Amino acid sequence: MALRVGVVGGGQLARMMIAPAVELGVELRVLAEDEGMSAALAATAVGDYRDAETVLAFAREVDVLTFDHEHVPQEVLAAVADAGIPVHPGAAALRFAQDKLEMRARLAELGMPQPDWAAVSGTDELQAFIDAHGGRAVVKTPRGGYDGKGVRVVSAATEAEDWFAALAEDARGGQLLVEELVDFTRELAQQVARRPSGETAVYPVVQTLQRDGVCAEVVAPAPHAGARLIEVAAQVGTAIASGLGVTGMLAVELFETTDDRILVNELAMRPHNSGHWTQDGAVTGQFEQHLRAVLDLPLGDPSPRHPWSAMVNILGGPRTDALTDRFPAAMDEHPAAKIHTYGKAPRPGRKVGHVNCAGDDLDDVVYQARAAAAFFAD
Ligand SMILES: Nc1ncnc2c1ncn2[C@@H]1O[C@H](COP(=O)(O)OP(=O)(O)OP(=O)(O)O)[C@@H](O)[C@H]1O
Ligand SMILES: [Mg+2]
Repeated sequence: MALRVGVVGGGQLARMMIAPAVELGVELRVLAEDEGMSAALAATAVGDYRDAETVLAFAREVDVLTFDHEHVPQEVLAAVADAGIPVHPGAAALRFAQDKLEMRARLAELGMPQPDWAAVSGTDELQAFIDAHGGRAVVKTPRGGYDGKGVRVVSAATEAEDWFAALAEDARGGQLLVEELVDFTRELAQQVARRPSGETAVYPVVQTLQRDGVCAEVVAPAPHAGARLIEVAAQVGTAIASGLGVTGMLAVELFETTDDRILVNELAMRPHNSGHWTQDGAVTGQFEQHLRAVLDLPLGDPSPRHPWSAMVNILGGPRTDALTDRFPAAMDEHPAAKIHTYGKAPRPGRKVGHVNCAGDDLDDVVYQARAAAAFFAD
């Protein structure tokens, strides 16, 4: 019997599930937002993921429903679950990836290490938090943020007035999340795969570099990681995966602080940019692992294949020519670089592809990945 996985969302994460699905012989179907999206190759439907009827009709034709993004509303998820169709990650887990305030509250219950945080309803409460945290703080919209949109470092509550105004207009009302401005030496990410039966597979903790709130580079495993860091990151990732009942891939974004603490930044319950290195650098890539996990199949080995892997994002892309026009020069110069492009039109700052390199020498691997990615910049 053919296994059919339905993915809601037609972005690059859905696109990158296609290759491992073909290799395994799993049928991948995609409900894309528009024609011609990244995952158009597998798009069997185009429609609004906020519409229960649309998602239900799509879900009825597959064995399990999963996601390329976190934005499917709870009501829609409930309708699919009520129809008896398996959904992974399930609605009860996904809540905590959809809303950063719910995430903070739940992680506090689980005793996970976090930055100081508060839910604030207005500028007075926000100002009080800022004053109590050295005059600066990070304000976040709880829902719908990505790539640093919805994240603002502020030194006065007035800098978030527009967000409070927008919340007041929103019929649901609501609060903003405020966090201490963490003094971090670097950012890390811990990925864990978990299948419905409870088995987990833990990837090595990686180092991530964000520029302007957007992931730019990843090095795997995280350099200079002591046994304690590796153990704490793995424990935090596993505790969150199990504690929240996550199924599929989980990414836990972490801060390593100047005083050597590990704090949770946020969660993603799907393949994640911090795990793109696994495509070429791990025994089991995160996209294959996600398929295995949501199908409740035995998980693959998450071990690295090489001492070091580096991933460099192609952000924006060339202004006038196509990414593929740069292939001859990039491939000629960097034959060991693995180039991935997403079939997206170049636009400033947009994630349009990435380059993976792996090998024995950390500096060389990072250099090669950066140099190959640079061929696609303007
Ligand atoms: N409390 C904090 N202290 C210091 N820096 C922070 C804090 N929160 C976020 N940042 C910085 O802002 C970046 C984006 O924040 P966050 O991950 O919450 O936003 P996002 O837009 O949801 O991100 P993503 O693109 O991963 O979905 C972080 O990677 C980090 O560099
Ligand atoms: Mg983030």
